[in-house]
Amino acid sequence: MIVLGIESTCDETAAALVRDGRQLLSNVIATSVQEQALYGGVVPEIASRRHCEAISATVKKALADAQMTMEDVDAVAVTFAPGLIGAVLVGVNFAKGLAYSAGKPLVPVHHLRGHIAALYLTHPELEPPFLCLVASGGHSHIVQVEGYTHYKILGHTVDDAAGEAFDKVARTLGLSYPGGPSVAAAAKTGDPKAYRLPVPHVEGKYNVSFSGLKTAVLNEVNQAQMKGLPVNVPDLAASFQERIAGILAEKLLLAAADTGAKQVCLAGGVAANGRLRQLVNDGAQKLGAQVYLPQLKFCGDNGAMIAAQGYYQYMAGHTAGLELNGLPTLPIDYE
Ligand code: KG4
Ligand code: ZN
Repeated sequence: MIVLGIESTCDETAAALVRDGRQLLSNVIATSVQEQALYGGVVPEIASRRHCEAISATVKKALADAQMTMEDVDAVAVTFAPGLIGAVLVGVNFAKGLAYSAGKPLVPVHHLRGHIAALYLTHPELEPPFLCLVASGGHSHIVQVEGYTHYKILGHTVDDAAGEAFDKVARTLGLSYPGGPSVAAAAKTGDPKAYRLPVPHVEGKYNVSFSGLKTAVLNEVNQAQMKGLPVNVPDLAASFQERIAGILAEKLLLAAADTGAKQVCLAGGVAANGRLRQLVNDGAQKLGAQVYLPQLKFCGDNGAMIAAQGYYQYMAGHTAGLELNGLPTLPIDYE
């Protein structure tokens, strides 16, 4: 079964064709990230406009790259939640029109379920149940993936998402947006032990909190400025990365040990972080669990992950009519 996946929840307009939820046939991404970087973050109105301009050509190219037409497509999957609502609606409306005109089923996909499904594209042998940390610009969850469409949230952030913390710290350090890659690049030449950043206390065994950590970085910068001292950006970036990756890995591995998870995974934009990948790899091996990490090209937002999850949603009978609406928020374990 061939599924066309369409994604437009943030600043990537993306479309892809995937066979049977696992085999990538094409993957096209148009991004407005360079333009958003001028403003230090995503401007929702700009994102929506760029989606409108790019979506038709992006879907056409995804079909062309796979040497297919809509005749070959069996279902149209689209991210309907959560995300910037003006951006989400561009994809949802385009998918509705396309599915209707081509006479194909329409499959609504939850964005974070899509991030998790990126693992199926990288690891053909991976099947639920597994434990997964999903960390992106808007969400940080430790999720037990019980089945292809069944999830149990074990922990979550009580304030900022991990990616959001990277983005805010990057801005404080004068580094470019998006913050994850620029903090990681700066950290390469820094000493992770140079700054003593706090370990946040948070209620809930598997919950995380990053707002105090973000403020601690800001305080270091402010104090240095008041004293007329320079800030060592690589050292502060490395210390921050070490702390946040350490917290995420520790909570995931704690949940893995407690639940006796045999398979431990990362997903979402922050899953591209090299230090986090290393810590999870090392820790899970000690637990005797198998680690699955998404290929770097599937960590950030893409259409392939939506097509992959779309296949499993379709198989579970989750299709929608033309009344489908986009939603700015929706828990991953919605029924
Ligand atoms: O999943 P994603 O592409 O979009 C959302 O659903 O939000 O995640 C984007 C987030 C951004 O906050 C970005 O700074 C972060 O992922 N990110 C990283 C890295 N690459 C992207 N964070 C840490 N290390 C990275 N290498
Ligand atoms: Zn995402």
